[in-house]
Amino acid sequence: MSVRPIVTVGHPVLRERARELTPDELGSPEAQRLIDDLIETMRAAGGAGLAANQVGETVRIAVVEVGENHPRYPYKPPIPLTVIVNPVLEPVDDETVEINEGCLSVPDLRGTVDRQLAVRVRYLDRHGVEHVEVRRGLTAGTFQHEVDHLDGVLFLDRVRDPATFTTWEQFERHHRAAFVERAEELNRRFSRA
Ligand code: NI
Repeated sequence: MSVRPIVTVGHPVLRERARELTPDELGSPEAQRLIDDLIETMRAAGGAGLAANQVGETVRIAVVEVGENHPRYPYKPPIPLTVIVNPVLEPVDDETVEINEGCLSVPDLRGTVDRQLAVRVRYLDRHGVEHVEVRRGLTAGTFQHEVDHLDGVLFLDRVRDPATFTTWEQFERHHRAAFVERAEELNRRFSRA
């Protein structure tokens, strides 16, 4: 396993649509090594997710993981390590929510995007087993962000109001409190079983 360099906005690979893997390709040592590298790179960078494009590989693999008190996104509810291969997202209903996002490939910038409040995520895990899960709230946003990467889309493209762009420092100083209040409301709404 190794920590790989993360490419930043402007690199064409972030604008490519990554291609599906065949079952044989997914089982190959190369794909399994890439998955390990994505996990290690995400953890080293303190990300909540990482897509293969971000380390220069255009295959449809992404990883997501959020622990308690995540360093970059402490208000996000925990997500166990999830490897998603060939993911397909489908909105559950029409409801959307404004989420303030950042990205490891867009250094020191955050912005507010509209996300589906609930999505059905269909994907293969690293062993090729199919999963279908409904993800809601901030977690739904995290999955949409990563699948966007595999389609060559960055959160920048989804910011409707450019006035919401902030550096991380200015977010902390001027916007964090209001956003965290809304985020916690969402978390409470979806923690009820
Ligand atoms: Ni990102």
